[in-house]
Amino acid sequence: MTGLPWDASYHNGPAPWDIGQPQPPIVRLASEGGFAGAVLDAGCGTGENSLHVASLGLSVLGVDVAKTALAIARKKANDRGIEIEFAAADAFQLERLGRMFETVLDCGLFHTFDGDERPKYVASLSSVTNRDGTLYVLCFSDDGPDTGPHPISQKELRAAFNASNGWNVAAIEADRIQTRYHDDDAPAWFATSERI
Ligand SMILES: C[S@@+](CC[C@H](N)C(=O)[O-])C[C@H]1O[C@@H](n2cnc3c(N)ncnc32)[C@H](O)[C@@H]1O
Repeated sequence: MTGLPWDASYHNGPAPWDIGQPQPPIVRLASEGGFAGAVLDAGCGTGENSLHVASLGLSVLGVDVAKTALAIARKKANDRGIEIEFAAADAFQLERLGRMFETVLDCGLFHTFDGDERPKYVASLSSVTNRDGTLYVLCFSDDGPDTGPHPISQKELRAAFNASNGWNVAAIEADRIQTRYHDDDAPAWFATSERI
């Protein structure tokens, strides 16, 4: 499985991106009704974003390659009494889930993949997203100081998601991602794409 070393990030306390609460843009999006139908959180980590969306009554599956992160996520769900599913799965092989989703969230996963990996990841997302479904990608942006380790340009987002591989980028908005190592937060793009 691609990404197995990720598990080590969760062994000794919170990972650098694991802020112990949902990312504010995702809370805002959820409050605006941006999540509908069955929701997939790809690369869910310890599940704060998934858990927030599920706490609003939506059906959510969070997947990750890091089993330690999934164990933490399941414990949080249990402690908070939130009904949700977490499963080990490789984001490059989501079709193996055998399920389709109306809304897919990627918070901090896309920006970890290099250019060569992106087509395979996008094809994997396409295989589990219903037509007219929505994909949200929150990633570090290349616009502004003090950004994260793998900043992404708008051009890269538009190159990755396009009509030839089944996506229409409806919006890319400047936003912020919180981390444990930024004093405030880091510049981000919040991209909304529709499955066509
Ligand atoms: C930067 S973290 C973001 C975690 C979470 N979304 C959050 O906002 O806290 C990226 C996550 O993607 C997971 N990941 C990396 N490669 C993956 C892959 N191929 N399939 C599934 N998950 C993967 C990592 O284990 C990690 O939990």
